[in-house]
Amino acid sequence: MSAKHFINDPTHLVNTALLAIPYTNPAVACDIDNKIIHMRGSAIRSPQVSIVSGGGSGHEPSFASFVGHGLLSGAVAGTIFASPSAEQIRRCILHRVRKDKGVLVVVMRYTGDVLNFGMAVEKARSHGIETDMVVVGDDVGVGREKGGKVGRRGIAGTVLVHKIAGALAAQGASLKEVTQVAQLTADNLVSIGSSLSHVHVPGRSADVVAEDELKEGEVEIGMGIHNEAGSERKVTDLPNLVQTMLKHALDASDKDRNFVNISHEDDVVLLVNNLGGVSPLELGGITNEVIQQLAKDYKISPIRILSGTYMTSLNGLGFSITLLKVKDTGLGAGKSMLELIDAPAEASGWTAAVTSDTWARRRSSAKEEERIVEEEVQPSNLRFDYAHAKSALTTALNRLIAAEPDITRYDTIVGDGDCGIGLKRGAEAILSQLEKAKTTDDVLLFVNSIIQVVELAMDGTSGAIYAIFLNALAHGLRQQSPSSPQPVTAEIWGNALQTSLKSLSKYTPAQPGDRTLMDALYPFVENLSQSRNIDSAAEAAAEGARGTQGMKASLGRTVYVGGEGWQGVPDPGAHGLAELLLGLSEGLKK
Ligand SMILES: *[C@@H]1O[C@H](CO)[C@@H](O)[C@H](O)[C@H]1NC(C)=O
Ligand SMILES: *[C@@H]1O[C@H](CO)[C@@H](O)[C@H](O)[C@H]1NC(C)=O
Repeated sequence: MSAKHFINDPTHLVNTALLAIPYTNPAVACDIDNKIIHMRGSAIRSPQVSIVSGGGSGHEPSFASFVGHGLLSGAVAGTIFASPSAEQIRRCILHRVRKDKGVLVVVMRYTGDVLNFGMAVEKARSHGIETDMVVVGDDVGVGREKGGKVGRRGIAGTVLVHKIAGALAAQGASLKEVTQVAQLTADNLVSIGSSLSHVHVPGRSADVVAEDELKEGEVEIGMGIHNEAGSERKVTDLPNLVQTMLKHALDASDKDRNFVNISHEDDVVLLVNNLGGVSPLELGGITNEVIQQLAKDYKISPIRILSGTYMTSLNGLGFSITLLKVKDTGLGAGKSMLELIDAPAEASGWTAAVTSDTWARRRSSAKEEERIVEEEVQPSNLRFDYAHAKSALTTALNRLIAAEPDITRYDTIVGDGDCGIGLKRGAEAILSQLEKAKTTDDVLLFVNSIIQVVELAMDGTSGAIYAIFLNALAHGLRQQSPSSPQPVTAEIWGNALQTSLKSLSKYTPAQPGDRTLMDALYPFVENLSQSRNIDSAAEAAAEGARGTQGMKASLGRTVYVGGEGWQGVPDPGAHGLAELLLGLSEGLKK
């Protein structure tokens, strides 16, 4: 295995990928000799026009994984980035798909594809098979001048032509109708891609890519799906990149690129396509950026939005934006472009799952989700000295914040270094809450206001532990709330703390001795329950934290991190808690 691929032999790669497809969809079969994926004859439900497509491999799930009910009838694959031969295509049309209602071939505008598919179409016609061909060129990445006679290349917008034609054919439409609607769709598409790097083709020397590779931080705007050059390379950020891409796609005054006029008066379908190497997480962020800019700069709010992996350039680190201007197909109910896009397709590569019915129920505008209104916390009868508690807690939190560098240093040695910052973030959030909170002499309302901050501001394991502990503490306090207002006593605190420890043990196996914050928490609670003295309890916590030095971790991330020098430092979480508690006892004395 090389550093780049699990499968390095390109022939083996393409063949095995094709062979896998029928395993995921029993309605299709693989003719591996001709690299054809096609509907099984017995799986075809009723007579229909066959839709055939294909092209070089490396664009998966296009085209082979789009074969299935409601989409393609057959797909012919070439080697990576190379057109299949006319002979392969001829065999597909003549022998692997139904021909009785005619065949529509949909192909992207690349010289090799147009020639080979074209030749096969002519051969099929000469055999008396009604065959049409639609060539898709949706890419506006390169303008008219540079594109010259060749015209626009085909990229991801092509899948919308496939989908619309496939769904219409499945409804029994005639070849003439399917061809017209496919052409209408192709005529109203604009797409543009951008990539952060060239893709490496398995089996080829990596040097070929390296030669012309983009520099760190550069993006190539308008790059094609076979590493073809785009219009420019520059260092920019996502908002500016999307702005440029949308301008190329939509600017009616750009004579070189104005292929389709799309305005806010049109119904628009947006497809944001992953070129193969962008994480779904990042694609989500990109999609959101595109949606926001379309709304802000063009007043366009697409009525369908597809975001996902539809046509790749191997593991290309890029994405493309496609806009389809929805046109009337003139075919009546059930056969509008939108309904044809929404229609279910049983193809393993088609991932747009939302039906027309669901789309029809979308909210009219993109207004924000209503804010959550939390139920008011019920007051209790446990009273305390608010000013004193606030000042003590402030002292405690400041002591914790001051300990952050130490905690971070310990955690850099035994963990992943974020424990100190996490605690500091939580402490700061509580401090700012204390600043603005309303005065209350109800200890439960006070604890609950802190819980809300901890839950929002602290994440990760320690955030969860603190949140569970504090919630259980609140519960323990409420259970002891007397029938008339009374001051909270050390005994009540002690009992409530015991309850919280018990609750915590339901969710974490950590016990004293495991080198976690429990090594400080347990001694604190136990000591306080017996001594009723916060100073000695805090001291017990500090002793417990010191005791973690040299202790071997059996839980938590420390187990995995196994760095050097862990024997010499205490557990950062236990140390942080001990500092907080020492600060509390110090503050209460004031
Ligand atoms: C777009 O609209 C402009 C202004 O009306 C017009 O000049 C141009 O020809 C149109 N372009 C296309 C591709 O229809
Ligand atoms: C509480 O902790 C203090 C300080 O470590 C210690 O002296 C005392 O004995 C402890 N008390 C109990 C009851 O554990």
